Amino acid sequence: MPVQIAAGNWKMNGTRAALDELDALVTQLPATAAKVVMCLPAQLLFPAAKLAESTVLSIGAQDCHTAQSGAHTGDISAPMIADTGATHVIVGHSERRADHAESDADIHAKARAAWDAGLTAIICLGESAQQREDGSTLEVIKTQLAGSVPQGASAKNTVIAYEPIWAIGTGLVPTLDQIAEVHDFIRAQLSGDAADISLLYGGSVKASNAADIFAIENVNGALVGGASLKASDFAPIVNALR
Ligand code: PGA
Repeated sequence: MPVQIAAGNWKMNGTRAALDELDALVTQLPATAAKVVMCLPAQLLFPAAKLAESTVLSIGAQDCHTAQSGAHTGDISAPMIADTGATHVIVGHSERRADHAESDADIHAKARAAWDAGLTAIICLGESAQQREDGSTLEVIKTQLAGSVPQGASAKNTVIAYEPIWAIGTGLVPTLDQIAEVHDFIRAQLSGDAADISLLYGGSVKASNAADIFAIENVNGALVGGASLKASDFAPIVNALR
C-alpha cells in the first residue's frame, strides 16, 4: 500500500522568521499523522531539520545538482542536503523545468544523485495548458515518466507528484475525473518495486478541496505550494489525508 504523504513546497519564500510557522505546524500535527514533508529553501534546511527532530515532520530541499561536488557556482548537491538532516528533495518541479531548462534527462540524473545521497526524490510531472487542450496529456506524462524516473525507483526512494502546470499557483484545479485519469494512468505504468510509490497531486490544493482530491483512489497525498506557507492552512490539509 502506498504511504499517504502531505508535502509542502515553500519555493523561494521564507527567512529564519518563518521557522515559527514550522514550529506551529509541528504542534498542530497529530502524532499518528501520515508522512508530512516540508520542502524549504536551502538556507532553512539545517535549522528546520533540527526543529523537526523527533517529530512527525520530515524536511526536504527543492532541487539538487547531479554532481556530488565541484565547480557549479550557486548549486547545492544531494550530499550537502543530506548533511543538513533533510531526507527528501524535489526534482523536476515545473518551475525548475521552465526557469532552468531542465530536461527529463537532467531530472533522471538528479533523482539518481538524490538516491546516492540517501535522499527520497520527489519527482514532478505535469502537462501545460496547451498540451491539456491538445489532448496530449497522457502522452506527455508517459514521456516524462519514462525519461525522468530512473530504473530502481521504489517506494523507499521515490515519490511521484502529478502537477498540471496550469493548476500551479493559479487557483485552477482539474476536475476530480481528470486527476483520477492521470493518477490511474501513472499507477498502471509502475510495476515491481515501483508499484507502491506514493502518487501525489499538486496544483492549487487547499483545505477546502483536499478531502475530495484525497478520496480519489490513486491519489496518495498532495504537494502543496501556497497553502503550505502557513501552519493554519497546511495542518487541515494534513488532517484531510485518509
Ligand atoms: P500551489 O503550488 O499549491 O501554490 O499551486 C503547487 C506546487 O508548485 O507544488
